Amino acid sequence: MRRGSIVRITIYGVLAGILASLVAVLVPWLPTSASEEMDRIEFTFWFTTVICIGVFAVVAAAIVYSVLKFRVQPEDDSDGPPIHGHTGLEIVWTAIPAVLVTAISIVSAVVLAKNDDAGPNPIRIAVTAQQFAWEFEYPGDSKITSGQLVLPVNRAVKLTLRSLDVIHSFWVPEFGQKSDVVPGIETTLVITPTRRGEYSIVCTELCGLGHATMRAPVRVVDRAGYEKFLAGAGDVAGSDENSGEAVFTSAGCGGCHAFEPAGTDAQVGPSLNEIDPRGRPLEDYVLESIVDPNRVIAPGYQPSVMPETYESSLNAEQLDALVQYLVEGQQ
Ligand code: CUA
Repeated sequence: MRRGSIVRITIYGVLAGILASLVAVLVPWLPTSASEEMDRIEFTFWFTTVICIGVFAVVAAAIVYSVLKFRVQPEDDSDGPPIHGHTGLEIVWTAIPAVLVTAISIVSAVVLAKNDDAGPNPIRIAVTAQQFAWEFEYPGDSKITSGQLVLPVNRAVKLTLRSLDVIHSFWVPEFGQKSDVVPGIETTLVITPTRRGEYSIVCTELCGLGHATMRAPVRVVDRAGYEKFLAGAGDVAGSDENSGEAVFTSAGCGGCHAFEPAGTDAQVGPSLNEIDPRGRPLEDYVLESIVDPNRVIAPGYQPSVMPETYESSLNAEQLDALVQYLVEGQQ
């Protein structure tokens, strides 16, 4: 091969590499990391991306050079020369990718193992998913449950995930970690938040009509803020966990129903602003519709969409508060 050809191939390769690098760096593909686990995942992505850019540059250079250099001339109908392969070249283009892929596997395995390791003394929070809400139970004697996830910064947290109905999936983009929540088995997820702020839990498994609304807030606060939240006195704790409003939020009612006092306007299920009790006492009808939602189906809606789990997932006090909240909110 002539020296001029080598120079041209090198220039094509460098140009392709620069182009691919710009696409990788200038487009904000990922949210800013907010956890140690996400930092490691980002490292894995960049490690892989750099290798991919290198391979892309070599392949692109060979293709561009070949297309330009060996282009058929007009009127040239002759066959190309017969080629029987090149053993040396084949060994090289098998061995180098094998080494690179092995390196990616090793880095990924190390990151996976580290991201699964919660250390000696993590905070353990039990997460319960159901159509279409998340609930969090915090450690300690008080057994605080809440519809929002509050985490102290720079402390490892181990989430245990359960589902009451179908498969859901827990994901906070800024935390990186993701896990399916599968009925019948308990999955776990380790998160070590590094940046204070407010994020959003997204359900990433299509779990029913309200799937897109199955979100819950996450707040990463300092140690004092977390203690304050647990003590139930902090401003992050919000209102009484057993108030009708709190139950409406934590049970995920707003994911499907419009209800003005709660500021929700979802249309998966019937609006709760003007409930028609069909000639029955309003309170009875509302309670029945919560615990046995298929008994009466509002005109224009499908049966078996609303979960039938609320009789077991809410206690009598919470059910009562929720019914009162809905009855009082009638227009
Ligand atoms: Cu739960 Cu999608």
